[in-house]
Amino acid sequence: MEPLTVRLPRINPAVTHMDESIIRDMTRVAEEAGAINLAQGFPEYPIAEELQRAAITAIKKGINQYTRTWGDTLLRAKLATHLHDHFGLVYNPEDELVITCGASEAIMATLLALLARGAGVVIPEPIYENYLPAARLAGAVPHILTIDPFTGAWDPAALDRACAKAQVLILNTPANPQGKVWTRDEIEVLAEILKRHDIVLVTDETYAWITAPDHPHVAPATVADLRSRTVTIASFSKTYAVTGWRVGYAAAPAPLMAAIRKVHDFLTVCAPAPSQRALVTALDLPPTYYSEMAAIYRSRCDLLSTGLRNNGWRTNNPQGTYFLLVDISDLKIKDDRRWAVELAHTRGVAGVPGSAFLWDGLPHEDRPSDRRGRFLRLSFGKGEELLLEAVQKLGRP
Ligand SMILES: Cc1ncc(COP(=O)(O)O)c(C=O)c1O
Repeated sequence: MEPLTVRLPRINPAVTHMDESIIRDMTRVAEEAGAINLAQGFPEYPIAEELQRAAITAIKKGINQYTRTWGDTLLRAKLATHLHDHFGLVYNPEDELVITCGASEAIMATLLALLARGAGVVIPEPIYENYLPAARLAGAVPHILTIDPFTGAWDPAALDRACAKAQVLILNTPANPQGKVWTRDEIEVLAEILKRHDIVLVTDETYAWITAPDHPHVAPATVADLRSRTVTIASFSKTYAVTGWRVGYAAAPAPLMAAIRKVHDFLTVCAPAPSQRALVTALDLPPTYYSEMAAIYRSRCDLLSTGLRNNGWRTNNPQGTYFLLVDISDLKIKDDRRWAVELAHTRGVAGVPGSAFLWDGLPHEDRPSDRRGRFLRLSFGKGEELLLEAVQKLGRP
């Protein structure tokens, strides 16, 4: 008999059909081409001194073993207060919060807890790359809601149709890649539709603190009566520039939370103990920490977008996150992945092709070759000098 490794049918089809991460692939291309890497999303932003000290202290003080599976008690208590004071969210740290290994694990644990095999899940597109693999691992059937990447427009009637076939909707606000921050009015319209179809809302609010001044983040669970049907997910990764510490969380009414905690326990036991304890200190940072961070990202955004526009490129105007979309719809590109690779080699700047955020229901190798995105995603989570260099290198379209 052939060795197990060559009998591929044994592999779960949900995994066989999982695309390699194009974002990480573009990082490899950037390295090969010696290009500036504006593809990968980790922040180049200083970690607050007190946070660094807190992490070292935690390890020295012996916070090195498993925490309670649902998270460090101090962190959960502090987080509940933080969520209330800054976003108006009310969650009981005892039975409505779980600390996870990043928002990534919170998304996976939540979808595995909520979606039975064959259940429907509505996913707005462009799609942050974790949602489809998580939905597929749960054996769920995705239904796409198209959102215009440049205007953020969406059609409530289309959402209504998609929700008729689903049990869960995933909402990313502020949204990666298109930088859309959902307004209270929009969330009210959404709430009405979710209620009509009895849908659970799973949010991803990873970039809640990185928004433009005139587009403050609205936590969906604070709108209308959404709290009772919402799982609020977010992360410490980007806000405190600690993507490698692996800490995020989910918050939900107790019956939903009980299910999510069970999956979390068997996936990871707990998030890293020293990181959790150190992040208690993060939640003591003054409000100016957040306003300064948002202002710095905004000035980086202006620098990159103004530079590119002056060169003749068209860009969107992100309301949140640290991603900028360069509109390439006029360039008549057949295969945007190939184009992005060529751009990295010829111009020395790597971004993520828009097709990485699209879904056509097919594994990558079966997609029509002209299936392409309309934009290139560039990260302005990088330092100013690098962004200026990227503008120079990109030159005219
Ligand atoms: C929209 C979105 N959600 C979740 C994540 C993952 O965050 P974490 O590091 O908390 O797993 C990212 C990371 O880039 C993201 O962009």
